[in-house]
Amino acid sequence: MEIHSAAAPHLDVRAHAERRRRLAASLPCPALFFAGTAPPRNYPANTYAFRATSHFLYFVGKAIEGAVLAVLPDGRSFVLRPRPADDDALWHGPGLDDAALAKRLGCEVRSLDGLASLLDPRGACTLPAIDARTRAAQSALLGRAIDGGALEGHDATLADAVIALRLHHDADALRELRLAADATARAHLAGMKATHPGLREWHVRAAMIAAMAHEDCGVSYEPIVTVHGEILHNHRSDHALAPHDLLLADVGAETPGGWAGDVTRTWPVSGRFTPSQRALYEVVLAAQARAIEKVRPGVRYRDVHLAASLAIAEGLHALGILRGASPESLVHEGAHALFFPHGVGHLLGLDVHDMEDLGDRAGYAPGRTRSTQFGLAYLRLDRDLAPGMAVTIEPGYYRVPAILADASLAPLVARFVDRDVLARFADVRGIRIEDDVLVTAESAEVLTRAIPKSIGEVESAVQAGQ
Ligand code: GLY
Ligand code: MN
Repeated sequence: MEIHSAAAPHLDVRAHAERRRRLAASLPCPALFFAGTAPPRNYPANTYAFRATSHFLYFVGKAIEGAVLAVLPDGRSFVLRPRPADDDALWHGPGLDDAALAKRLGCEVRSLDGLASLLDPRGACTLPAIDARTRAAQSALLGRAIDGGALEGHDATLADAVIALRLHHDADALRELRLAADATARAHLAGMKATHPGLREWHVRAAMIAAMAHEDCGVSYEPIVTVHGEILHNHRSDHALAPHDLLLADVGAETPGGWAGDVTRTWPVSGRFTPSQRALYEVVLAAQARAIEKVRPGVRYRDVHLAASLAIAEGLHALGILRGASPESLVHEGAHALFFPHGVGHLLGLDVHDMEDLGDRAGYAPGRTRSTQFGLAYLRLDRDLAPGMAVTIEPGYYRVPAILADASLAPLVARFVDRDVLARFADVRGIRIEDDVLVTAESAEVLTRAIPKSIGEVESAVQAGQ
């Protein structure tokens, strides 16, 4: 397989200036984007790594702690940063002065103290940061409560303008997403090769994180590497790897520029699927292929989800796990969601669930809201696809005890699940197969296609390390 190497940190000044210019053209008032600060862990001087807010990164291209980007409707923009403390150079080393930083960013740089000479912050709009400390800083500067509640007025207009830009990835964003996909591919190959019966989940997790670190990439979310794939966001990694287990790894790289990869593969610890594992893996693989085939401009993403749901229902109906008049009727009743309870994917960009800080405003087209049906309610994206969007496609099959024992779902389970047949597939707890997919002018490109996925490819990749 051919994987390109991640480049050194790179900043395309022109691309970021163009993003700011396009935003300015649709602004009703000056906009302020806060980079945020590193959150403290157990005491103030011991912080988590600083990761700038994604909106700031999108328009500036570099994480600058405590900084604020001002974009003015007249097209000018400024990066305003706090004055360095006297001992900053001692603890953090020498920084760039304003002129050197401005050259690097292609944007004027000033002290944050000088903001009032540029604009009246009380008349500015902003997007509420996720962390409370940064929201407090926003409230203080703008002179009004920025509390993370529903967006109103010019803040809502700003959110829509930012969404309109960030939904369709430009060439620089695509370069970053490809780097993230490549580093993610290295991680999954390393994970497959590192898998041996008798090891612990953390051994595989460590190999995957190391492979991304080798490309100067971190993680775009907390990795899930577990033999308990039925626990959807299982962040434990201390279970032993038994020969009959399937290992589910949902691991994605974050590039130095902050862009995300998000991939899941599921492989047999022994290097060989059992017949029951193979049968269910083929069901999920077929569902993923069906969903990816549907990805093209103009298609409603909910229909991609429903295509995957129908394929899962067809597969489980053919195996006898689900019983009912037809796979279509099973999907209509929501029975497939007993085994595929989440949405088929989400937007991907600087955030692994891109722009989910804005709630469903980015994921759901105006006028569309979440379904209340079990399963469909967890669908994070319901827009019509358009060129330049990046989405994940991640169907799965899970045998979740909490679902099969849930009182509110009991009628659905009693009517549609054949527990005797299900028992024959007891060595499958969770399978998910996830790729990152770019919507192109006419169809789609799977950015993470280099990662082994068919049964033969996956078995070979695991066996290569044994
Ligand atoms: N990869 C984590 C998620 O999509 O929720
Ligand atoms: Mn995902």
